[in-house]
Amino acid sequence: METLIPIINRLQEVFLTVGSEIVQLPQIVVVGSQSSGKSSVLESLVGRDFLPRGSGIVTRRPLVLQLINVSPLQERLKIENGVKAEEWGTFLHCKNQIFSDFHEICKEIEAETARSSGENKGISPEPIYLKIFSPKVLNLTLVDLPGITKVPVGDQPEDIEAQVQDMILSFISNPNSLILAVSPANSDLATSDALKLAREVDPDGRRTLLVVSKLDLMDAGTDALEVLLGRVIPVRLGIIGVVNRSQHDINTQKSLEDSMRDEHAFLQRHYPSLASRSGSRYLAKTLSRLLMHHIRECLPDLKTRVTVLSAQYQARLNSYGQPVEDHSAMLLQIVTKFASDYCNTIEGTARYIQTSELCGGARICY
Ligand code: GDP
Ligand code: NA
Ligand code: MG
Repeated sequence: METLIPIINRLQEVFLTVGSEIVQLPQIVVVGSQSSGKSSVLESLVGRDFLPRGSGIVTRRPLVLQLINVSPLQERLKIENGVKAEEWGTFLHCKNQIFSDFHEICKEIEAETARSSGENKGISPEPIYLKIFSPKVLNLTLVDLPGITKVPVGDQPEDIEAQVQDMILSFISNPNSLILAVSPANSDLATSDALKLAREVDPDGRRTLLVVSKLDLMDAGTDALEVLLGRVIPVRLGIIGVVNRSQHDINTQKSLEDSMRDEHAFLQRHYPSLASRSGSRYLAKTLSRLLMHHIRECLPDLKTRVTVLSAQYQARLNSYGQPVEDHSAMLLQIVTKFASDYCNTIEGTARYIQTSELCGGARICY
């Protein structure tokens, strides 16, 4: 099943290359109020420090983050890119630059954010595209978004709340997106902006997963057990509690590894019955599984689209005649070839899923 996701990622790359977004690919989008912990959650999924985080509005442009597991591809990619590092990132806006220092990735996100939305808390709907290559990530495409906010600050327009909501809705209304609604444990779930927005576009809850952050910040004498068990608000795909790094942890540069270890210990101590179904690692696994399911659901439709597109490209390609030298014609050729490989892979994968035990796996509510 894992084989399916690199294919989708690769397809996305091809379509980006030809400047087409005809095929809507599944991706995971984080939604929540400002400072609920969205960037922190994404960062723990990636397993590396590189997302700007903090109190107040830090994420001010959508960040489309494509994680690519390099284990099987490592040697080839390394040779192609001339990379020495085990993990590295690239941005669409500076394609030829390899970032092997994650601190530099963080700085580039900040700089590129400032370039289009200014220095003073302004926002912009124009996404930043970042790819992270690493042997430590699952193959996922994630979108980090600015948080829901009510009162304009700095250079923000009067209608900041509506603007951010529109931006969020434009990502999550895509039926091919999985919504990761992040809600802090120290505020009432019934008032969750994240769930409210998710419900607007996904009323049946078929593609919304709830992440309850800040379990460590609850008032003494309270816990989130009822919430995590789904007794307060049921969420079809599941509710997963996490503990991210606090601002103090960020300031003192606590490592993600230490944070994961402490998170695990915290869950064992406070939620022993749920510990194996909670935490950042479990969230990563769950997401990967949901994404694969989601992709499976989309396969027939995707295949139709690719076939149609492929026929169109083939027709255009024929009109170029032989030999093909034109750069765009070469791209078309690649896409056409890729589309046919892709269709074969879809068929193979569909057969594989049908015969595999995952088919009967009852844990996902699709
Ligand atoms: P975002 O605005 O939703 O992207 O939230 P951030 O990830 O930037 O986090 C906002 C602030 O909350 C930062 O100071 C984080 O350190 C802190 N934070 C996030 N999650 C947790 C958590 O689970 N526990 C604690 N103690 N702090 C957290
Ligand atoms: Na924040
Ligand atoms: Mg953020």
